[in-house]
Amino acid sequence: APRPEDLRELIASQMHLEGPLLPILHAIQESYGHVPQSAVPLIADALNIGKAEVHGVISFYHDFRDAPAGRHVVKICRAEACQAVGGTAVAEHALQRLGVEWHGTTANGAVTIEPVYCLGLCACAPAAMVDGRVVGRVDAARMDELLSEAGA
Ligand code: FES
Repeated sequence: APRPEDLRELIASQMHLEGPLLPILHAIQESYGHVPQSAVPLIADALNIGKAEVHGVISFYHDFRDAPAGRHVVKICRAEACQAVGGTAVAEHALQRLGVEWHGTTANGAVTIEPVYCLGLCACAPAAMVDGRVVGRVDAARMDELLSEAGA
């Protein structure tokens, strides 16, 4: 787990910025791959704001995660063009197969599953992204392949 003194140092390094909350969260996530719960009170203290406010910002921005990600991150498009051609069923299939909720990570630590809102691949909907690589025309069978390749 991140040491409080390291977290405090990271927080302090961004305090000169105007509106330092987002830079602080980015700096912490860059260092640890997520924003640990233990950072929240430290940030709230440093900025003189409530912990709920810090939590709110972390959950509002899809970029931040509050737990370490799995070895692979699978994002499934939930925007309209993909939903219209079966994206919802593919997403439900994936969540059910993995036994996790959105943003969840499989018990073996292999895969984190996340929603994403349009990957710019609407012409090849439904779309997904595996570790930054976009994949089009993903049906349930293709999703199974992707998840198996990722070790889920
Ligand atoms: Fe899914 Fe655009 S709506 S890629």
